[in-house]
Amino acid sequence: MAQQDPSPYRLLVCVNPVGSNKPSCGGDRGSNALADTLEAGIRARRINARLSRIICLNRCLKGPAMRIAPGGDFFLQVQPDHIPTILDRLEALAGQLPDGIDPTDPDTDDPTGFGHYFPGQ
Ligand code: FES
Repeated sequence: MAQQDPSPYRLLVCVNPVGSNKPSCGGDRGSNALADTLEAGIRARRINARLSRIICLNRCLKGPAMRIAPGGDFFLQVQPDHIPTILDRLEALAGQLPDGIDPTDPDTDDPTGFGHYFPGQ
């Protein structure tokens, strides 16, 4: 049976690969690798939030760009050593998963259709 999603929080990560006349987060800036590490951190810390890979946060010149939604902080020019701080901020807002929800369960649904709990699983 599918599990409910109790959290409204998302970490939106721009993975736009297309930089027509400007840099792009998912191009040579490596945002997909950052997203992979962040997803692993969300899962390991049981943070009650999802990571969604999206196309553009309109901060293209300062990528890799990320934002906590709804209405949360932007993180710009993200580097690997910023990841613990981003996870701390996300956990402070979203808290941890309730008991009984297994973040590694491949049957965990995304009833919002907005993204997946942990893509690739
Ligand atoms: S390409 Fe990432 S914010 Fe626009």
